[in-house]
Formats: sequence, structure tokens, C-alpha cells
Amino acid sequence: MIQTIDVTTLQTWLSQGRAVTVLDVRPEADWQEWQIPQSVHAEAYYDLKASQLAPALQQLKFPLDQPIVTVCGMGKMSLVAAEQLQAQGYQVYSLAGGMQAWSLAWNIAQLPTLANGTEIIQIRRTGKGCLSYLIASQGQAMVIDASLDPTVYLQLAQERGWQIQAVLDTHIHADHLSRSRQLAELSGATFYLPANQRSSGTYQPISANMQIQLGVATIQALATPGHTWESMSYLLDGSHLFSGDTLFLAAVGRPDLEAQAAEAQQRASALYQSLQTILTFDPASIILPGHTSKPVAFDGQPIMASLAEVQAATPRLAQPETEFVAGLTAVRPATPPNHQTIVQLNQAGAGLPADLITLEAGANRCAIA
Ligand SMILES: [Fe+2]
Repeated sequence: MIQTIDVTTLQTWLSQGRAVTVLDVRPEADWQEWQIPQSVHAEAYYDLKASQLAPALQQLKFPLDQPIVTVCGMGKMSLVAAEQLQAQGYQVYSLAGGMQAWSLAWNIAQLPTLANGTEIIQIRRTGKGCLSYLIASQGQAMVIDASLDPTVYLQLAQERGWQIQAVLDTHIHADHLSRSRQLAELSGATFYLPANQRSSGTYQPISANMQIQLGVATIQALATPGHTWESMSYLLDGSHLFSGDTLFLAAVGRPDLEAQAAEAQQRASALYQSLQTILTFDPASIILPGHTSKPVAFDGQPIMASLAEVQAATPRLAQPETEFVAGLTAVRPATPPNHQTIVQLNQAGAGLPADLITLEAGANRCAIA
């Protein structure tokens, strides 16, 4: 009998730095695209599928006193792998629900406290790369781009004695279902969205240059169209920019989701202008993006960089507009799985569907490096 382990338990083990071997048995290309931090890969999938002993598992040499957690796409082949490993004397668990379930795993990283006492916590959906933020000043808190169950944010705020007063999205997301509206309802906070023509639910519209006060902190909206037309970035106290999917640490937002070629071109051009505005900021400004394209490590290190560092890591930012637009529209990376359904649900602003996991499965694909 193979024991299973759920996502929350494995997430806790990794957060605690517990000695565990995470062994991924999916085909190598799947592992290369998206994996659990610190996981190792064994090319066993096709043998397991054919109900054969997998040589790749027989050859493994792991410490016998350290548990192994086997992982596959949905938690089926990992059970077969676990059986073969258990027969070799290992203590093995199979991750229930596999990488699909892991999509909801998360961890946090706290930024150094700002001079005026403002605190920022980055909440990372490690299995998907979505980054959201909890910002607090004098006990008043705000959440940007909630992508996890609202109780995650409510609990983080409650533990610190903070009251969530505002929940904002940077844009209408295509890769995950926004939990912002739900979080605002549960916490009694105001739900803000960049003013747009697409959302049919009610929200407090954010217009360019609008300011929101949070304790002694000030958040200023900056219109940064391009990735989507309504995209906004939010500048905290003139020094920290929550850049959504406009600017990442070494990539820019893709302009082609839900767009035909001509519109993608217009959006790429708008993105160029938006980025030019950001590039006028102090090079020491901290960029806090909406996504990362790598699985987020359980290391407590915030995913952030100074504007100068981002500029050095993103050659596209130095291109003239024509080259920038041509370059961005020449690449059309694979679209996020189910993005049309996700966009429709985010636009409708009605409740969340029961089967979130299947809908959101897969890597993030909002950036172009
Ligand atoms: Fe996006």
C-alpha cells in the first residue's frame, strides 16, 4: 500500500527545509517546462505506463532514511513509481493529484521594511509562477493580484494584525482566475480594477494617476497599456513598482493574447511607450512583477530587482520602437492553456468554478524574454 502526501504537507516540508527527495517521473520535456523546486527527474514514464520495471528507478541511489515523494502529472504514474521504489526499501509517498494539484502550492517572501514602516510580502504561487502582494502600513493592508484562495491572504493579514482594505488587480488576467473580487468580498475591502470596457461585474475603477492611501503609504496608478489595454502598474511611495505583466525581471509582457496580428502590433507599440515611462524612473526603483517564469524556490528570497538590473537583463528595453514592435510580434509563444475561458470568467466577475485545478493547470505564458 502506497501512502500519498497532499500538496499542503509537501509545501510545509519544503518551507521547513526538511530533508526529502522529490522525484518527478513525467516525461523529461514536461519536467523541463515546469517542476517542483529541488526536484530530480527519472526517465521512467514510458516503462511505468507499460507496467514494466523502470531501469531508471532501479538505478537510483538515494539515502534510505530520507523520504522520497514521487510526482507525475495527475498522481497516477507516481503511485506505480512509488511501488517500485518501496520494493527497493525506500520510504515513499506519492504526491496526490500530481503537478495539477501542485499548481496551488505557494510560499512567501518578505521584503525589507520601507523607511516609513510599510511592509511588503510577496506571495508566490510556486506551481504556476503567479506573484501577488500583501502591502501594509499602520495596520491597513492591500492585496495586489490575488491568485490563491482568499483564505491565504486573510490568514497572512490576520496573523500580523492587519486589516485588508483594498484589493487591486493590475489587469484582467489570462493565465489564472483572479481571486481578488472574492477576497474583497470576504474581507470587506474595496475591489479595484483598472477602468475597462470588458468587465461586466461591479468594481471600483482605477484611472491613470489615481492615488490610494494606505496608512502613511501612497499607491499611485500608472497606466501601462500593452500587455492588455487596461493594464496598470502601481507605484508604492515612489520607490516600488508593482509592474503586473508589463515588465518582468528579464522579459516584457506579451501583447498578443486575445489579439489578431494588427492589434498585437498596436499593443506592442503601446507597451513600448509604457516601458519608456517606466524607464524614466529612478534606476534604483524596485520592480515587483506579476509573474516569474521559473518555479519559485522555498528560499524566502523576494523575486525582485532594481530597474537598472532589469534594464541590464532585458535587451529589448534598449531597442528603438520599430525593432521592439517587430521583435515582439514576430514571436507568438504558445498561449496559456484555457486562456479564453479564464479571460471570460475573469471578465464576468461571477463566482469561481468548482474545478479550478484543471482550468488553471500548466505553466505561465505571459512573458516574452
Ligand atoms: Fe497577464
